[in-house]
Amino acid sequence: MGPLKFEECVRSCLIPETQPPGKPALLPLAVREGKLCTRAVLVEKAPAVIGSGYEGPHMDILQRNVSVRMTRHSLDNLPAVSLPSGFTVRWYATGDDKTWGDVQARTERLLKITPEVHAREFGTDPGPLAARQAFLSAPDGSVIGTASAWFDPNFWGLPFGRVHWVAIVPEMQGRGLAKPLMAVVLQRLRELGHERACLGTSTARVPAINLYRKLGFVPDIRTAEEVDIWRDWQTAAGVDRW
Ligand SMILES: CC(C)(COP(=O)(O)OP(=O)(O)OC[C@H]1O[C@@H](n2cnc3c(N)ncnc32)[C@H](O)[C@@H]1OP(=O)(O)O)[C@@H](O)C(=O)NCCC(=O)NCCS
Repeated sequence: MGPLKFEECVRSCLIPETQPPGKPALLPLAVREGKLCTRAVLVEKAPAVIGSGYEGPHMDILQRNVSVRMTRHSLDNLPAVSLPSGFTVRWYATGDDKTWGDVQARTERLLKITPEVHAREFGTDPGPLAARQAFLSAPDGSVIGTASAWFDPNFWGLPFGRVHWVAIVPEMQGRGLAKPLMAVVLQRLRELGHERACLGTSTARVPAINLYRKLGFVPDIRTAEEVDIWRDWQTAAGVDRW
């Protein structure tokens, strides 16, 4: 893909520009052409071909905590990561909305966790929750993490599985527990028939973005501004490839 075509590809992802009034949102070019993975290339090549007006790098991107999205364009080749001995994963049962709230309240530093958050994010139907919300328990039985194999029926026009609200309580972080929990959740998305996965995160969440990156997620870039945001993030976080 030559530079001009590549730039056109980025421009075509500017949904407000390309969406005719009253028509459903156009799919980004990469999706329309069936080349779902080309946005990884976009990030890699962006510095060379886009944004002559780019003033960065803006190293405060980690403090500004800008919302971003990431995607895994296939649920093939999922990582095989085992849980350490004694740790177990179970799925939502009645009352676990409180368990979820407790884990999130202990972990989350950027958002306020109130009792309403669980119902707002996941609804109140126990059916999907029992299939999709995972809890990680330590050998002593205490719940120390959660992640959900949720869904998004219309992510830029396509159905996606959504990895939602991943958390490992602070005292258990850095021990390699999120990776196997994520592997379980991605496997569950695949079992439930999803072909690809998306997630939302934010630029201050460096451990989370690194976790997702290591598990095959790439930035989901739709605008020239997002090219700059991700370029800044890569520089500030010291990441040079995906
Ligand atoms: C993100 C989070 C779940 C990671 O949990 P964890 O159990 O510490 O992660 P792991 O030990 O399994 O590490 C997995 C990968 O995450 C990344 N990571 C973990 N801690 C990191 C840190 N302090 N700095 C940079 N990267 C880090 C690494 O890439 C690591 O892989 P590696 O060890 O091969 O380099 C945890 O930090 C957390 O709960 N954070 C707060 C809540 C949050 O931000 N959730 C995400 C919402 S989108």
